[in-house]
Amino acid sequence: MDSSPKPKSLSTNLYFLFLLLSTNLLTLFLSSTLYSSCSLRFLTSTAATNGSDIGISVSDLSMSEPSQPLPQSDEFLRFVSGQSLPFGFNTNFGSDTMYSPVGRACTLFSDELRRYMTYKVNGSCPDDELLAQKLLLKGCEPLPRRRCRPAAPHRYTEPYPLPTSLWTTPPDSSVVWTAYACKNYNCLINRKSKQKGFDDCKDCFDLEGRERSRWTSKRIENGSLDFAIDEVLATRRPGTIRIGLDIGGGVATFAVRMKERNITIVTTSMNLNGPFNNFIASRGVVPLYLSISQRLPFFDNTLDIVHSMHVLSNWIPTTTLQFLMFDIYRVLRPGGLFWLDHFFCTGEQLEEVYAPLIESVGFNKLKWVVGRKLDRGPELREMYVSALLEKPLNNSW
Ligand SMILES: *[C@@H]1O[C@H](CO)[C@@H](O)[C@H](O)[C@H]1NC(C)=O
Ligand SMILES: *[C@@H]1O[C@H](CO)[C@@H](O)[C@H](O)[C@H]1NC(C)=O
Ligand SMILES: *[C@@H]1O[C@H](CO)[C@@H](O)[C@H](O)[C@H]1NC(C)=O
Ligand SMILES: *[C@@H]1O[C@H](CO)[C@@H](O)[C@H](O)[C@H]1NC(C)=O
Repeated sequence: MDSSPKPKSLSTNLYFLFLLLSTNLLTLFLSSTLYSSCSLRFLTSTAATNGSDIGISVSDLSMSEPSQPLPQSDEFLRFVSGQSLPFGFNTNFGSDTMYSPVGRACTLFSDELRRYMTYKVNGSCPDDELLAQKLLLKGCEPLPRRRCRPAAPHRYTEPYPLPTSLWTTPPDSSVVWTAYACKNYNCLINRKSKQKGFDDCKDCFDLEGRERSRWTSKRIENGSLDFAIDEVLATRRPGTIRIGLDIGGGVATFAVRMKERNITIVTTSMNLNGPFNNFIASRGVVPLYLSISQRLPFFDNTLDIVHSMHVLSNWIPTTTLQFLMFDIYRVLRPGGLFWLDHFFCTGEQLEEVYAPLIESVGFNKLKWVVGRKLDRGPELREMYVSALLEKPLNNSW
């Protein structure tokens, strides 16, 4: 692998420290000025009701964008309204009322939210996946549409049986294609060579291509960024890695490889210009439609392994990344593994921001490999980090 970056001048270091601080301070500043009325109301409404009110009141939600105080759709207001529990006060809840969860950020995009929540209850949902995904990616998560039937393919074809399904391109008729540039799997398989421009996981749908060999290398080179699954599993007692999560797992080849080893992996994915969730499900592993800003829906100290490749990178706001890293630590059981696969950033960012951030969470480092990413030229000093981290057996707090 490449030599480590040259020592940098003090001024560069200070510059990045400044960047780090100013980004954080700016975030704090923005959140406490722009959204202050909203968050204050949120705080007062929860504080004032001393635990009997576990949600945000309807008036908070419908009025949180002062410049556009347009009313929300009736269905949205019904959705966020408290519902009385039929048997009254429940000690588990500490309340006699139940609220449906809705991302507070939904109300920051009231036009889109109104469009999204205007639909015929007990009818067909509008075929508007792009709108839904945009809202979700901005933090309107969980999405509040609950009472309609989604568009379904005209002549749905059932999936192939296992184990054929794991490595077979699913039928086109298992997908509603409206939201994607491609209208069939053949187009997705060929888009790497035939379509210009960037697409997330552009070559992933080709199961005969790169997907075939991922994480399976038998000969592990010292210092390679590509760890092999069997090499990682060999760090634990056989059979003790059983369940886990792959964050932003593309077409879930990681989960498929683990399934072949009798390990159950759930794969989070968005549908960025491709039916990733359908494809993953058709292969016969579980997709989870969840953004990286959402708290992971697992209980503390439960998962044996969390993996993530090419997703956790410098495009993520630093604070968001820190929330996520702590959340990964939370859901891993003691002795569980966090395989951070090809984390991307520049050399300076790695030294000044990301390495300290990752180290501060409390993992033990079993493996830490830094390598240059040279495809866009060495002068950009782009780096990858692959790491195998362990939640300590005895730690924590
Ligand atoms: C809420 O606060 C009031 C006084 O402020 C108190 O009398 C009441 O017991 C509290 N309720 C709960 C559920 O804590
Ligand atoms: C939904 O619509 C169908 C037919 O239009 C009706 O039979 C059914 O009762 C409705 N269900 C609800 C929950 O309103
Ligand atoms: C890999 O590198 C480490 C230290 O750099 C060394 O101890 C080890 O023997 C090497 N392993 C192989 C297989 O070359
Ligand atoms: C997976 O489990 C099945 C059924 O228990 C077993 O026959 C098979 O050998 C296992 N495969 C591996 C790779 O452990």
